[in-house]
Amino acid sequence: MGSYNILVIFCLVIALTAHKNYADSFYNVLDYEAVGDGETDDTLAFLSAWNDTCNDDDSEEWPTMVIPEGKTYLVKPITFAGPCKSGVQVQIEGTIKAPSEVSAWEGLDNGKWILFKDLKSGLNIYGSGSVDGSGKAWWDQSCKYHPGKGCTKLAPTAIKIINSKDVYVSNIAVYNSSQCHLTVHGSDSVAFQNLRINSPGSSPNTDCIHIQGVKNMLIRDSNLTCGDDCVSIGDHTSNINITKVHCELGHGISIGSLGKGGNEVSVERIKVEEITFKNTTNGARIKTWQVGRGSVKDITFSDIEFDAVKNPIIIDQYYCDVRDGCNATFLNATGTTMTKIAINVNCSNVVPCTGIHLGSIQLSGLGKYRNISSSCNHAYGQATGIVEPKSCLLPLDPEE
Ligand SMILES: *[C@@H]1O[C@H](CO)[C@@H](O)[C@H](O)[C@H]1NC(C)=O
Ligand SMILES: *[C@@H]1O[C@H](CO)[C@@H](O)[C@H](O)[C@H]1NC(C)=O
Ligand SMILES: *[C@@H]1O[C@H](CO)[C@@H](O)[C@H](O)[C@H]1NC(C)=O
Ligand SMILES: *[C@@H]1O[C@H](CO)[C@@H](O)[C@H](O)[C@H]1NC(C)=O
Ligand SMILES: *[C@@H]1O[C@H](CO)[C@@H](O)[C@H](O)[C@H]1NC(C)=O
Ligand SMILES: *[C@@H]1O[C@H](CO)[C@@H](O)[C@H](O)[C@H]1NC(C)=O
Ligand SMILES: *[C@@H]1O[C@H](CO)[C@@H](O)[C@H](O)[C@H]1NC(C)=O
Ligand SMILES: *[C@@H]1O[C@H](CO)[C@@H](O)[C@H](O)[C@H]1NC(C)=O
Ligand SMILES: *[C@@H]1O[C@H](CO)[C@@H](O)[C@H](O)[C@H]1NC(C)=O
Repeated sequence: MGSYNILVIFCLVIALTAHKNYADSFYNVLDYEAVGDGETDDTLAFLSAWNDTCNDDDSEEWPTMVIPEGKTYLVKPITFAGPCKSGVQVQIEGTIKAPSEVSAWEGLDNGKWILFKDLKSGLNIYGSGSVDGSGKAWWDQSCKYHPGKGCTKLAPTAIKIINSKDVYVSNIAVYNSSQCHLTVHGSDSVAFQNLRINSPGSSPNTDCIHIQGVKNMLIRDSNLTCGDDCVSIGDHTSNINITKVHCELGHGISIGSLGKGGNEVSVERIKVEEITFKNTTNGARIKTWQVGRGSVKDITFSDIEFDAVKNPIIIDQYYCDVRDGCNATFLNATGTTMTKIAINVNCSNVVPCTGIHLGSIQLSGLGKYRNISSSCNHAYGQATGIVEPKSCLLPLDPEE
């Protein structure tokens, strides 16, 4: 499905719900005895409201679970499972808050807090409210920054969406997740729009958005400031557009890590455009492990602005089963860097990188990094227009 189609459906959903009032198709958590004082456990109220929303089969439009404004709802690990009778909507106006103690996950899956699964008839999450991951206790015991006995590697993702189709998430804020903020696995036709996602730069593994096994996804008009990747794109993804996104702190937009442990990799048609990176450790990155198999192809980063970024353009290996079948383009990028190597294409002699295109890139160094350069290892491709620092790609295919 094209971005146009996704947008049309998206607008249609919004328009229909905004202009018609099917009173009986709204399920307000307060009518299910949610308290919303931030302390009372509102999990059961949310589950009951979801149950009725999901089982509603006589609404003319997608039934809506409503979380009213002005209140904070404490919700324990929860699963909103389908299949439902039709597409469903979740209107978040208040704040949904995770338990702040790690013990709330005792005996439960540490990997998730709010899970949406098996919603193949559609899911629309919207509203001006927020989702507070209360992640501090998890950060404080994370193995990344606090290694040692009792440290944890896996912490709850704030909102995880799996095995679903026609998913829209818009306008809400998600912050301070224990680990990833928004994750999508194994889903098709997804649009994220107008999101605000925030966590401290020092919070461990808190990707703003992580996707894996997803096809046909659009992420746009969002401000993403997190401790780890702004957006990370995992294996088995295709046709992903990321546009008009501001990434701050954390590690930038990363395709990978892919193929760790020799996994099959398949990533294609990724378009990242009109992105600003501010004070991130990487900008546009592709990272695959040499031991993997598969291919990474048709990747474009364009119209990029870097502001005090450490590795603006970086490829740590990428590969291809099909000879000459892989390619990645970096086009029209400007801005400043805080390391000497501003363009780094670092591949191996075993698996060289081919089909790389650099076009119209003008970077300059900040502070002591006035004299910046490019670095290439086994990197083949072409440069067009002005490329500063000067490209070091080799023009010839290594096997010719
Ligand atoms: C991404 O953009 C391309 C070209 O602009 C378009 O063909 C494709 O349908 C878009 N995909 C999504 C998921 O928005
Ligand atoms: C869910 O809804 C169904 C039918 O609408 C009802 O039979 C069932 O008791 C409800 N379960 C819960 C946990 O509310
Ligand atoms: C997120 O957590 C940090 C650190 O605990 C805190 O300073 C900040 O206020 C929190 N953000 C929000 C929006 O609550
Ligand atoms: C993102 O930040 C910009 C600049 O501060 C602001 O104009 C825009 O409305 C923000 N977008 C969202 C979705 O908050
Ligand atoms: C980048 O972020 C760090 C951590 O928040 C901050 O200390 C530093 O001043 C920022 N640097 C720039 C150049 O904005
Ligand atoms: C990658 O190669 C395909 C097939 O040759 C081509 O259609 C596509 O435009 C290329 N993409 C990039 C990003 O260079
Ligand atoms: C290059 O990217 C900038 C944003 O970084 C944009 O304003 C400009 O129009 C782009 N130039 C071209 C030729 O597309
Ligand atoms: C290239 O990758 C190798 C292996 O990971 C690493 O040792 C080396 O420092 C990298 N070179 C650059 C310029 O990043
Ligand atoms: C800048 O760096 C290049 C290569 O890294 C080096 O050859 C050159 O001498 C440096 N120039 C200055 C003025 O330091």
